[in-house]
Amino acid sequence: MTPSADPLATSLRTHMGGNLRSAHVGQSVTLGGWVHKSRDLGGQVFIDLRDREGLVQIAFNPGWTAADVIAAAAAIGMESAIIVEGSVALRPDGLRNAALPTGEIEVRATAFRVVGPAATPPIPVALDKEAKLPAEDLRLRHRVLDLRRAELQRNLVLRHRLMQVTRNYLSDDGYLELETPILTKPTPEGARDFLVPSRMHAGEFFALPQSPQIYKQLFMCAGFDRYFQIARCFRDEDLRADRQLEFTQIDIEASFITREDILAMAEGLVKALWLEGGVEIETPFPRMSYAEAMERFGCDRPDLRYGLEIRDLSSVFATSESGIIKGALEAGGRVRGITVPGAASWSRKQVDELEAIAKGAGAGGLVRLKVADGKLEGPLAKFMAADAAGPLGLVDGDLLLAVAGADRISSPALDRVRQECAARLGLAAADRREFLWVLDFPMFDRDPETGALAAVHHPFTSPNGGDMAARPDAPDTWRALAYDCVLNGTELGGGSIRTSDPTVQSRMFELLGIPDRADQERRFGFLLEGLRAGAPPHGGIAFGFDRIAMILAGSDSLRDVIAFPKTTAARALFEGAPAVVPAQDLADLHIRVTDKERA
Ligand code: AMO
Repeated sequence: MTPSADPLATSLRTHMGGNLRSAHVGQSVTLGGWVHKSRDLGGQVFIDLRDREGLVQIAFNPGWTAADVIAAAAAIGMESAIIVEGSVALRPDGLRNAALPTGEIEVRATAFRVVGPAATPPIPVALDKEAKLPAEDLRLRHRVLDLRRAELQRNLVLRHRLMQVTRNYLSDDGYLELETPILTKPTPEGARDFLVPSRMHAGEFFALPQSPQIYKQLFMCAGFDRYFQIARCFRDEDLRADRQLEFTQIDIEASFITREDILAMAEGLVKALWLEGGVEIETPFPRMSYAEAMERFGCDRPDLRYGLEIRDLSSVFATSESGIIKGALEAGGRVRGITVPGAASWSRKQVDELEAIAKGAGAGGLVRLKVADGKLEGPLAKFMAADAAGPLGLVDGDLLLAVAGADRISSPALDRVRQECAARLGLAAADRREFLWVLDFPMFDRDPETGALAAVHHPFTSPNGGDMAARPDAPDTWRALAYDCVLNGTELGGGSIRTSDPTVQSRMFELLGIPDRADQERRFGFLLEGLRAGAPPHGGIAFGFDRIAMILAGSDSLRDVIAFPKTTAARALFEGAPAVVPAQDLADLHIRVTDKERA
């Protein structure tokens, strides 16, 4: 009898072991997989066979297995790849395992062969739920074994599904999946480029794309209207848990659109992705201007799962006798702070830790005032009016944490302090999802030291036309038609409406420190030429695909959803990259490495 078809059957196996159920009882099967666990009960052997679909118990027993086969089964090394033949049978009463999808049955083995013997695994694959994982560096070194682990198998399968959802959603909406080059010209996205030396053109370099930004705009100029790509991007920046050197974006661009078209399309995509992850979310997402986000939360990607909002307390502190406060206010700064209910009981050490966080973020210090019996307590209390608790909006048990100075200093410091307080109070509930659009970013950021302007989003983002017309000589005050999609304090994606007028684009380059037209043409001529060829109004967005996969997998590191990630020290441990290359290869590429660098 032909066994019922398993879609993953091949010439070498009839079924995936993990898919077997009681409906298969009586069928002869040939399975292929890895030895997950084995138990030798003296005379009979049980092997848990693992394949992509799960685990199934293989029983080697004198009742149906030849003695030499049982003896060989007892000797198989863990994690070896084997092919087993046998028949599916119900497990005896009392020996069923309700925790396992295949737990009703077992495969009674009649034959097997080791097709891929395994060396003794340096890290375990079969881990009990509570078992501690080996150190991450060790797991990244032995990535093949680690990828066999159930959690990483699940994550990469989820990643695949999210990719298909993305493709289907965008393709159904008329977006074309188009590829862009990997060997490119540098595009300024704010990070350092990875450069690739050209062998054929001594001293010249390609750059790996930080994003396909310019190419997608050229697609719009070329009339492709709606583009998307699941694009690999490369940025030579310092790594964190949510940043990799190479990562994947869902990159999207469309023509003849406004911001509203992009936001609605993007919300639909996010909704579809979360649904695939098993979560229904509400759209449209709330919106907040950049200015409001900075004022209330001190950052442009606020976590809205909790309050602890920043308030301007300058008017109350105006009468303070403290020299530090007076100085800050006289210099045009403000006193801003957050109230943490119930935190008056935090120890001095706990509050000192918060001050260290504020200082680490650039603040000179952290004003702390707590309230007991209606009275302020703390180093600065003596400089405040006796009844200041009321005007400060504080009640007994409150702890006020404030920073005096310029917003540029107080915002990042209070942002960090706010996050730490929320973590301590357990306010950032993992099962809450607060999506948010942050809109109206400033177009430029001015370096306080050099006075140079830099694009907050990127140089191709369109400034707000009204701002530009109203204050042509004050680019610092222009808002950009840029938007970020934020979830629980993480930036999922960002985009903008682009400058489609080549004259405006040229002005942007000028403001960004490339005043020379010839220089502009040399660096960005290919974009300017596209814009001059008749550019439609266009805009788009890019989502961090790995970040989305990480969140939906319930993980807190991108390394758990990327098959072969880099460490935070920017190395691929399993392959030993980056690596020294032979001198001749370097010579062919016209490159010389100094001994000092090599040492
Ligand atoms: P942006 O630079 O904001 O925009 O990148 C878009 C999204 O990509 C993710 N991301 C990263 N993920 C992992 N590791 C990194 N190093 C990393 N850097 C960014 C983030 C981010 O929101 N061309 C523009 C998009 C546009 O304007 O359409 C761009 O690349 O989730």
